[in-house]
Amino acid sequence: DWTMGAYREEAIAKIREQVGDAPVICALSGGVDSSVAAALLHEAIGDQLTCVFVDHGLLRLNEAEEVVGMFRDHMNLRVIHAQEQELFLGELDGVSDPETKRKIIGKLFIDVFQKYADDIEGAEFLAQGTLYPDVIESVSFSGGPSVTIKSHHNVGGLPEKMGLKLVEPLRELFKDEVRALGHELGLPASFIGRHPFPGPGLAIRCPGEITREKLDILRKADAVYIDQIRKHGLYDEIWQAFVAILPVRTVGVMGDGRTYDYACALRAVTSVDGMTADYYPFSHDFLGETATRIINEVKGINRVTYDVTSKPPGTIEWE
Ligand code: XMP
Repeated sequence: DWTMGAYREEAIAKIREQVGDAPVICALSGGVDSSVAAALLHEAIGDQLTCVFVDHGLLRLNEAEEVVGMFRDHMNLRVIHAQEQELFLGELDGVSDPETKRKIIGKLFIDVFQKYADDIEGAEFLAQGTLYPDVIESVSFSGGPSVTIKSHHNVGGLPEKMGLKLVEPLRELFKDEVRALGHELGLPASFIGRHPFPGPGLAIRCPGEITREKLDILRKADAVYIDQIRKHGLYDEIWQAFVAILPVRTVGVMGDGRTYDYACALRAVTSVDGMTADYYPFSHDFLGETATRIINEVKGINRVTYDVTSKPPGTIEWE
């Protein structure tokens, strides 16, 4: 009779057996997998675990505070909040090519993680939220999209380079089982049910050059859009929803004046695994109300469009 409660006990025993009393480090992203892995490890080994949350300045509104606040203050984990916004945004200044953006972010992420990890006295293990499908796919479709999804926060190649051994307590689980385990461990439903968020963050939702001004506008518009989706009870029906700020300004009218501000695109898709996706069929009322709210509440945007492209031929992200 197999239950999540029993799995949890078994997993905890295995972790203790593997790591003994050695210090363990973990890259915490706030996504479901790394969150559940961190919570499980913390239960198994307490303060032997130190999590590093890398803040690259490409997170959503209040995201860093929410993730760090929940794990550090609410769950009592040791969390280092690596505030490296200046570094990442500096290196990305003037860069518009999507793959170059990803490469810069991926490389800096590893550098930064290593820098903080080096400060943790005697660390012997690196914990990762690798799931069973990641294990399978990295063997059969090496280099395919699922590997890319993982390659950012699951710092590939780094353990060997740093002389660390891997702890992967979720290696036998599928996504729905990870969610059940997270629930069992007392993680709030709002964390367990979160939409996936890409490692490069808002960088790939800001096509073209990234500026702080655009990021600020994007964060505000995205927050209004997600608020609308939650208010209408649609969040759990959608695989991923976000705003992309477009690299174009268009003319509008507001009051007696003419505006010349950014256009944005709303994206929402349904999907099973992110490999294929359909655009979400919002009602026209929902779209109209959301456009009105964004334009009224977010200075810097005067035009809202809805992306009705499915995948393929489109991708879910804009870059
Ligand atoms: P696309 O845009 O390729 O996205 O249809 C499929 C899924 O992968 C996520 N994604 C990424 N995740 N690093 C990540 O960690 C990336 O570079 C990356 N690119 C796309 C995307 O959010 C979606 O869930």
